[in-house]
Amino acid sequence: MEFVSITDQEVELYKERFNLELGWYMSVCPMKVIENDKEIALIDCSEGMYGDDSIQIEQFEVFEKKHGWGSKIINQAIQDLSDYRIFVYVNDSNSKAFWIKKGFKPVDDGTGTEIYCYGCN
Ligand SMILES: CC(C)(COP(=O)(O)OP(=O)(O)OC[C@H]1O[C@@H](n2cnc3c(N)ncnc32)[C@H](O)[C@@H]1OP(=O)(O)O)[C@@H](O)C(=O)NCCC(=O)NCCS
Repeated sequence: MEFVSITDQEVELYKERFNLELGWYMSVCPMKVIENDKEIALIDCSEGMYGDDSIQIEQFEVFEKKHGWGSKIINQAIQDLSDYRIFVYVNDSNSKAFWIKKGFKPVDDGTGTEIYCYGCN
């Protein structure tokens, strides 16, 4: 699995081509995810918001939902980022089930707002 940086213009093209649900505005470091030459998702992450060992998933969307791609990508990220705590704000109540299944737990982000975390005890 490969994570390849893309430009904001490319993000716009993927948004249109795959009719993406998320806004994909003001991406920090957008990447496309490729598995066996197939483009499967976009992900945008930032580092350090909650300490040096933290990564925040800003946006994440698979092109084909409910085909196991999201699970595969997050499993890979958890493995690659084993020294990090991974954070994600989950605004859509539907996708909470997904993050919980991946082992993320709701924690307070310090302002009373819920954020999901992998690797926080
Ligand atoms: C949320 C998202 C990334 C999940 O990826 P996916 O490829 O569709 O999920 P998977 O097929 O890998 O599913 C993994 C598990 O999570 C569950 N799941 C996935 N999406 C779900 C949803 N919306 N509601 C409930 N359960 C869900 C699946 O049923 C599956 O459970 P199982 O392992 O018991 O079979 C994807 O649906 C998506 O891109 N959604 C739109 C954007 C979004 O909400 N992004 C996340 C916020 S940043």
